[in-house]
Amino acid sequence: MSTRVELHRLDAVVVGGGGAGLAAAVYLARQPGIRTGVISKLYPTRSHTGTAQGGVGAALGNCDPEGDSWEWHMFDTVKGSDYLADQDAVEILCREAIEVVYELEHMGLPFSRTVDGRIAQRRFGGHALNFGEKPSRRACYAADRTGHMILQTLYQQCIRQNVEFYDEYQVVDLLVEENCCKGVVAIEIATGVLHVFQAKAVLFATGGWGRMFEITSNAVTLTGDAPALVWRRGLPLEDMEFFQIHPTGIYKLGILITEGVRGEGGVLRNSEGERFMEVYAPTMKDLASRDVVSRAIYLEVKQGRGIGGKAYVNLDATHLGRELIEEKLPDVADFCRTYIGIDPAIDPMPVQPTAHYAMGGLPTDPDGRLLADADGSIVDGLYAAGECACVSVHGANRLGTNSLLDLLVFGRRAGLHMGVFAAGSDYAALPDDPTGPAIEALERIRNGKGDRAVVIRDEMQAAMTEHVSVFREEPGLAEAVAKIEELRQRFRGVKIDDTSEKFNLDLVEAFELGCLLDCAYATATAARNRTESRGAHYREDFQGRNDQEWLKHTFQKLREGDKVEFSYRQATITRFEPKERVY
Ligand code: FUM
Repeated sequence: MSTRVELHRLDAVVVGGGGAGLAAAVYLARQPGIRTGVISKLYPTRSHTGTAQGGVGAALGNCDPEGDSWEWHMFDTVKGSDYLADQDAVEILCREAIEVVYELEHMGLPFSRTVDGRIAQRRFGGHALNFGEKPSRRACYAADRTGHMILQTLYQQCIRQNVEFYDEYQVVDLLVEENCCKGVVAIEIATGVLHVFQAKAVLFATGGWGRMFEITSNAVTLTGDAPALVWRRGLPLEDMEFFQIHPTGIYKLGILITEGVRGEGGVLRNSEGERFMEVYAPTMKDLASRDVVSRAIYLEVKQGRGIGGKAYVNLDATHLGRELIEEKLPDVADFCRTYIGIDPAIDPMPVQPTAHYAMGGLPTDPDGRLLADADGSIVDGLYAAGECACVSVHGANRLGTNSLLDLLVFGRRAGLHMGVFAAGSDYAALPDDPTGPAIEALERIRNGKGDRAVVIRDEMQAAMTEHVSVFREEPGLAEAVAKIEELRQRFRGVKIDDTSEKFNLDLVEAFELGCLLDCAYATATAARNRTESRGAHYREDFQGRNDQEWLKHTFQKLREGDKVEFSYRQATITRFEPKERVY
């Protein structure tokens, strides 16, 4: 491989050009003298935030006669999390939501509008008025292209602020010693040259890792790069057992059909034509939280009420009328026409649950600072925001619209904090051989003689889908853990066909597979470890929530010989005592 190494020195480096990364970069670069770079394995405007459809949650109260309040939003978020979210962080999320949405509006984001010109809002799962009384309209939207508009708006602001972009650079190592972050190493995909980015502050914002499952709404690039690199450095991951399976992906493809369809009045029906969510969630019905709806769909299918005996149900929007669909859900209509030849104004959409969002990830405080331990100690100069981070505002189950909100609120907070930190710090000395471990890892892939990456990936996805999805129990989890252990061993000899230097996507994909295997291992081991059911983590052998023992966050570290060491941190309760969760 190329022996050329280029060195860069920047005050702040952001890894990931999606919503969280760009939000942080905007607020970093606004601070005088803070030279900011964004490293992205994609062109930033192709990041996965661009696929978020239905809206961003904020209690503006534009569309319900009762108005709205951040406290109702907070209550819904805490309840949605099955009481595991840290309530101090949720309060920040819901209070600051209102400000960040107006700020985006002022940056030029083209929100859909009410007839009197205010930001339009729609219903979304788990969001309610007056502490759960009835569904509320809280999702601020730009048709069904909200994430796309956020990404474009933030990117424009970054250009305006002279943020430096390193596009199509794959991060391959984190430089951290004794809880002090020194920078990152990345490979420039176009040339194969390694780049060392020395920085006073580094933010990871690399998104999720849904590609560890067979059916997912996630882009191929969502491979958990940051959690893997951090975990390999002996630092913890938090709450990895909680992975959200969104109820409505296009059957067999997994492509997201936004909850906004149900927010606009669409309903789920089984093979009998029954609106089955009336049975599972009598108040919120189709707008219950995602874990509840996904489980209901699985149960309907299991009990023989899937459409045509298959593993899907129908999402019926035919009664909404073509005009509403074309105005408020144009992308959904387009996806259905393009991918499955269905016009949702005429025919129901075939949907099945699809792996969507990681609630867990890199533990941070509300300013995005990475936690080195369950005791709350910090890694100096290292930050995370967005889906790869765990603040924790989603606990065991995230509400729709709170992901865009999370990346805006905590991306901004991290950017502001990093700027102050960088202004008051010197560059830490780099390790003696900063590229040594990265070169070794990449060379091992180039010289591997074992299985091709695709073989290992297929087996990982099959094991995760079968045993670590909506329903889980000990024998299946044990099997999944053993399988991932075996695959991690086999990965050490993974083989690629392309050994060239330039644009070697074979190499990049194999590297990404290694990251996915780490995330899968963390997820499966944590799911096996948590012997209760909470939110998205449903154990058939431990049904019911166990607050006595498990109202706490899982921290897990990777030790010598692939051993996983667990420790715990109590969930922070401020306003809302845990109670039974009914919708
Ligand atoms: O259904 C959706 O539009 C997804 C939104 C989200 O995950 O927040």
